[in-house]
Amino acid sequence: MARLSWEEFQALTPEQKAPFFQREGRPYHALVAQQFDRPFLDRLCELATRTRRIAKTRGGRLFLQDLLSDKRAMLYFAQPSTRTFLSFYAACQIVGLQPAEVRDTSTSSELKGESPEDSVRTFSSYFDLIIMRHPVGGFAERIAWLLSNTERSVPVINAGSGKDQHPTQALLDIYTLQRSFEPRGGIEGKRIVFVGDLARGRTVRSLSWLLLQYPGVRQVFVAPPSLQIGEDVLAYLRRAGVEYHLTDDFESEIPAADAIYMTRIQDEWDVNRESAALDTRRFKFTAAHLPKLKPDAILMHPLPRRDEIAPECDADPRAMYWRQVRNGMWVRVALILIIFDRDVEVDRYYEDLTR
Ligand code: NCD
Repeated sequence: MARLSWEEFQALTPEQKAPFFQREGRPYHALVAQQFDRPFLDRLCELATRTRRIAKTRGGRLFLQDLLSDKRAMLYFAQPSTRTFLSFYAACQIVGLQPAEVRDTSTSSELKGESPEDSVRTFSSYFDLIIMRHPVGGFAERIAWLLSNTERSVPVINAGSGKDQHPTQALLDIYTLQRSFEPRGGIEGKRIVFVGDLARGRTVRSLSWLLLQYPGVRQVFVAPPSLQIGEDVLAYLRRAGVEYHLTDDFESEIPAADAIYMTRIQDEWDVNRESAALDTRRFKFTAAHLPKLKPDAILMHPLPRRDEIAPECDADPRAMYWRQVRNGMWVRVALILIIFDRDVEVDRYYEDLTR
């Protein structure tokens, strides 16, 4: 990565960039969904499950807490966040990584005119891992590129960048899908229906890429025409020979769905409050939809929700969004352990536990 100029690097496709984020066959940075292949996804899910199993006992929790207790992490969140921030924070605590945070750039030297690039370079002087969320798409990649040109490069995890990617959300979504469909032959061949603001929702974009790793998955994109999924994602699906379907008729898609993934209208990106003029009533899941949903289908949402899913649906066993929240913490634990090459110790502990 260091040998390319920023312009040369930026001109690469996400697939071409992906190898630059890996070191010795494992992610060093975690920046784009395209860097995760199927063996990695399977391994991450397995490790997440093993870690949460180990954490059931006090001895296990103390073992985990010692794994990275010599390291510190900076959580730099320049955009609002509840779950992603807290789950990373808790994940750091589980493996003993000491977390620090900058969430409000008005309290940092950015207010004095320091560039965000210089701020992040400062973090790398004190910390061993940078976890960051930023409104500018590709900003985490730029930081990773910049750091690779310094003598103190540290791993960077993208916790949400602009409208383009939210790779760790996609990883926890995969973990949730995998666990839910385990008794039904896995994610392969399932029909996944994405609903809402697919033009600006970064979680759907990242998850759509990851689903390419599972043969036979059909992807359905349900949105008002002006908020449909980007042509770049569709081009990629076509190249991969994946079956997909675009529609604005949500009602008709409910009965055949194996998973419905609801999202909110991302109106923080509106230039002139244009979302307010859209009729989004047809893109909501209500209690009246529950009887139409297959008995073994699941209902997902990255959260935060507004009224895309009626709270009356929460008690239905097919509602997975609160499980997604919990799964997110364990997937982030697993990702951090893999980045720091401490996962094999977890395997050893797990084998002793289950012997
Ligand atoms: C999402 C995000 O920030 O992209 N939230 C999350 O991290 N779970 C979705 C959203 O804000 O709608």
